[in-house]
Amino acid sequence: MEQTLVLLKPDSVERKLIGKIIQRFENKNFNITNLKMITMNRELAEKHYEEHRGRDYFDKIVSFMCSGRIVAMVIEGEGVIKSVRKMVGKTNPLEAEAGTIRGDYGYTTPANLIHSSDSEESAKREINLFF
Ligand code: PPS
Repeated sequence: MEQTLVLLKPDSVERKLIGKIIQRFENKNFNITNLKMITMNRELAEKHYEEHRGRDYFDKIVSFMCSGRIVAMVIEGEGVIKSVRKMVGKTNPLEAEAGTIRGDYGYTTPANLIHSSDSEESAKREINLFF
């Protein structure tokens, strides 16, 4: 069964949105098969965002991800990678559609609430990093 990695970023935890966000994935009948709360260190954050090294936002996103506790989870279901990306919404919350997680709760980057894998290959790599 297809799996994806979801990270609830430090702003989600700080703003007490964990329950509301997880509820959306459960409403969709996806299965959460692994879940933990951690504080990321720089090494893990840099590995996770490796493909973005060199971008102007690289340091900002790495520092932000290490700035507080996050929730990491594996979500499983048919077509889950694409479907979760759709539920998450566009990177910039101000451009994200209403009804998406970022559209409904977000307003800025890098604090855009949530990460989800963008392909099968990324999902495998990211799940192995966190679990
Ligand atoms: S790309 O070029 O399509 O791969 O980029 P994108 O998927 O939109 O973004 C890659 C990750 O970098 C984060 N990002 C930013 N963080 C801070 N500031 C700015 N300006 C910025 N732009 C992009 C973005 O949230 C992505 O991380 P995740 O964790 O997947 O959300």
